[in-house]
Amino acid sequence: MSTHELYTIPAELSTWDVEMAGSSRFTWEYDDGRDRMLALYQKGKDKQWDSAKRIDWDLEVDPYNVLGIPDQTIAIYDTPLWNRMSPETRNEVRLHGAAWQFSQFLHGEQGAMICSAKIVESVPDLDSKFYAATQTMDEARHAETYARFLQEKVGLAYPINEHLKALLDSTLTDSRWDMPYLGMQVLIEGLALAAFGVMRDITTKPLPKQILAYVMQDEARHVAFGRMALRDYYRDLSETELREREDFVIEGCYLMRDRLRGRETWENLGLTAAEVEEAEEATEHSEYLRLFRSLLFSRIVPCVKDIGLWSPRLQQAYADMGVLDMAGQSLDALMKQDEDIADKLDEERFAQEETERHAEVAETIAQGME
Ligand SMILES: [Fe+2]
Ligand SMILES: [Fe+2]
Repeated sequence: MSTHELYTIPAELSTWDVEMAGSSRFTWEYDDGRDRMLALYQKGKDKQWDSAKRIDWDLEVDPYNVLGIPDQTIAIYDTPLWNRMSPETRNEVRLHGAAWQFSQFLHGEQGAMICSAKIVESVPDLDSKFYAATQTMDEARHAETYARFLQEKVGLAYPINEHLKALLDSTLTDSRWDMPYLGMQVLIEGLALAAFGVMRDITTKPLPKQILAYVMQDEARHVAFGRMALRDYYRDLSETELREREDFVIEGCYLMRDRLRGRETWENLGLTAAEVEEAEEATEHSEYLRLFRSLLFSRIVPCVKDIGLWSPRLQQAYADMGVLDMAGQSLDALMKQDEDIADKLDEERFAQEETERHAEVAETIAQGME
């Protein structure tokens, strides 16, 4: 079935064309890769997995409760607007919220695939090209996975959010080779990773849990790549050049915090203009969402600090957003945890399959003896 049949708001039928900017670079030096980068490349190769095999697609998903989480996580929960809604409408709210969220993950993954392919082309060093090539494959697998999840399990999709699109556009139209890293690896992926993490940790449903945990296992490498490449490069940039990067980060962070909220779901659910405002207002004040929004910066802030964009101006911007504390998060610890969670999930599933197989064997033997 065409995805266009699943879009609840029609998506553009043509491709979205972003003009290419900058040079595709060849290098003839094949032998001076950084050890750390090559080690990451090796890991990228070793850890490829196939979503068709690793994920248990037979698991059922209830589209009206995709993640199996309490309604307290819904922005308008327990507001007069929510209390006026019929049980059917509330179900629609649950479905559309999840469809919107996973659709943005999907479009973001396609964006990540395109940005990493662009890095392959434009980055000057071969070791980074090698690594980015494995990331391109990772992102293809992620996009494939989220697309299948939406198509087979949720049955409803949203077009890309206009603000996410704007951020992707400014990331891709810049001819400086480090900008796709900064826009994609640091900002968009940082945000996505934090959102995946919250959902991975609160979902009670095994299928989304597998998807989120396995995707996050790969993302830990992507963040490490961005940090490594940018930390080396930014060490040698001038004040002015660093300032331009900081402006980009500050603007991008405000955009992600204030604009990526899914207003289109409220409009699409047939709420009146006044009710959409009411929903927006509730989103602004929801305690859960306030916490969620600040958690969204748990990966971005320490990463920005780590790559050396840490002027008083940037710190002030984070203080104004109320997320400066996140600078104390240990990225290494978070990423180690992401990898461990995925490994542990594999172990548990494998152990269970093992037990089931043993039981089956025992049963067969017993039948044979009878
Ligand atoms: Fe990804
Ligand atoms: Fe990624």
